[in-house]
Amino acid sequence: MLTATPTLASERLVERLATAKHVVVLTGAGVSAESGVPTFRGGGSTAVWRGLPFEVISSAGMLARDLPGVWEWFNFRRERLASVQPNRAHKVIAAWQERFADFTLVTQNIDNLHQQAGSRAVIELHGNIWRARCFDCETRHELRELRMAHDVPVCIDCGGNMRPDVVLFGEMLPPGAFERAAAAASHCELCFVVGTSAVVYPAASIPEIARAAGAYVVEVNPERTPLSDLCDEVLTGKAGEVLPLL
Ligand code: APR
Repeated sequence: MLTATPTLASERLVERLATAKHVVVLTGAGVSAESGVPTFRGGGSTAVWRGLPFEVISSAGMLARDLPGVWEWFNFRRERLASVQPNRAHKVIAAWQERFADFTLVTQNIDNLHQQAGSRAVIELHGNIWRARCFDCETRHELRELRMAHDVPVCIDCGGNMRPDVVLFGEMLPPGAFERAAAAASHCELCFVVGTSAVVYPAASIPEIARAAGAYVVEVNPERTPLSDLCDEVLTGKAGEVLPLL
């Protein structure tokens, strides 16, 4: 069922879509909402696990205090993701890597749905829920390659304990990820911001960098965000309904 008719693109955006070579897309949890993945904010509530707010259970402090507990939380989230499929928004964005000469996809999402839709070389600012990283040797492995010991995956290279390869609250982004995203944003002509509340930095600075570099910045979101006033154009609607129209 279609909600209110999504706002259609202006002539300026149609022209930019026709001429742009360097295009950046930044996505957030909203792009996966139509696949059934809950967003973090919006609707006024945030996720709670075993009585712990999302920001606590997904924090560096929690990792130090209760590694098996953190794995339980991420196992729970992975189980819920196991049957989830990419939606039309993921598929349109995947097709854009063929449509534009120099296309960069930057995501805050850890759900791997962009990759499942066919997107390649995705810049994952917050990691990936299907991977683990060794505390000792820092090696990354797909979870399916690993065996568990005491509810914690063990590194097949050094035998050390593994942690989710996800950026937790209070942690730095993966080395180079933000720098690559910022570099692409600083020379793009068109930047789309899809399904993010734009309150978490440094991810939310990507469209600001693009705007400062003269790019045409477009937001796709059913709700306004702190970024809306900075955008050249706001397409109000669900990503899975708006993006196929572009
Ligand atoms: N299409 C487009 N946007 C949508 C849709 C949809 N179908 N449904 C919801 N949205 C919008 C909401 O209006 C909201 O602005 O998606 C946004 C989701 O915002 P958040 O839940 O805050 O998610 P995100 O911006 O990705 O959060 C950033 O914060 O919690 C951390 O690490 C986590 O990566 C996450 C980061």
